[in-house]
Amino acid sequence: MTDKNRVLIFDTTLRDGEQSPGATMSHVEKLEIAQLLDEMGVDIIEAGFPIASEGDFAAVSEIAKRTQNSVICGLARAQFPDIDRAWEAIKHAKRPRIHTFIGTSPLHRAIPNLDMDQMAERIEQTVTHARNLCDNVQWSPMDATRTEHDYLCRVVEIAIKAGATTINIPDTVGYTAPRESADLIRMLLERVPGADDIIFATHCHNDLGMATANSLAAVEAGARQIECTINGLGERAGNTALEEVVMAMKVRNDIMPFNTGIDTTKIMNLSRRVAQVSGFVVQPNKAIVGKNAFLHESGIHQDGVLKNVETFEIMRPADIGLNENNIVLGKHSGRAALRSKLTDLGFEVGDNQLKDVFVRFKALADRKKEVYDEDIVALMQDTAANT
Ligand code: KIV
Ligand code: ZN
Repeated sequence: MTDKNRVLIFDTTLRDGEQSPGATMSHVEKLEIAQLLDEMGVDIIEAGFPIASEGDFAAVSEIAKRTQNSVICGLARAQFPDIDRAWEAIKHAKRPRIHTFIGTSPLHRAIPNLDMDQMAERIEQTVTHARNLCDNVQWSPMDATRTEHDYLCRVVEIAIKAGATTINIPDTVGYTAPRESADLIRMLLERVPGADDIIFATHCHNDLGMATANSLAAVEAGARQIECTINGLGERAGNTALEEVVMAMKVRNDIMPFNTGIDTTKIMNLSRRVAQVSGFVVQPNKAIVGKNAFLHESGIHQDGVLKNVETFEIMRPADIGLNENNIVLGKHSGRAALRSKLTDLGFEVGDNQLKDVFVRFKALADRKKEVYDEDIVALMQDTAANT
């Protein structure tokens, strides 16, 4: 990578995202989402966990064969059969990647009952095996943020020596905080021999609502790959939301001078499709893609936005591919917004008529949560009939 400020976007909607209970997608839906991700400019698509099921294997293989630009990644535990199965699924991709992982924290080391040396040996063997199959290998120490620093440095060094080209640092349980997330990447870059030759990735979960902040802090410290999902889909409280990190680096490029290859105008469509196929509705006040993210209801805000949109908007709806009106009428709306809406709907009103319509509009808005265009048309027809 020649541009030192280029941040790779690794989307795991189809793997970690699909692990949310109830978010299962069909084969056809997965192919569609992968195509949309590729068209949006995602650098790496983690298409699934091929050994997990026949369905996962089939989806990953088909995505690998069809995808034009993105690297296609298959996940594998630190076991030879997993790695072989992942390779089998992705080997026809134009740009394949094997992603292998093992839990390195004390809690996770206890599960396969490996001591530190035995685990180090397993890492060496499995990364070497993956690298013999594929020249693009990502390795993750699962639960890295709760792994002893000395041991983390030791195993990262082993993985690099065995041929890993990307080292991903997962905050598997969403436990870290921004300063700590940055310090961890900085420490690895300083202490691990060979760290300058590979890419560090950050993979955050949102259990404490800090996934976006933690990912951006890691990038500021030197990570150059963010792992994320559309709408922040993922187990428990989800993963880092792609739309949040990408738009944060775009809108605040003055203080975070990093760039991605994402065509942000495709974000809204992808968000809607992922919500539809996963069945996970996006909360209305979700940053960037929530239904209310660009809506203004209160009179003061509407008046400001009508005069200069930058008063209450830090990005344009069109930046994410949203071409809808950002003014919603409700009981907090003022006369300026009502007049603007009437003009949009083709009604020219004088000041006196506006006063009258405004009184009737407020009465209606008190009864209804939101006043739609049809309500305003009906109100105008009613006013005309009674004058
Ligand atoms: O959260 C996590 O640790 C993971 C790994 C498999 C990378 O998703
Ligand atoms: Zn994860």
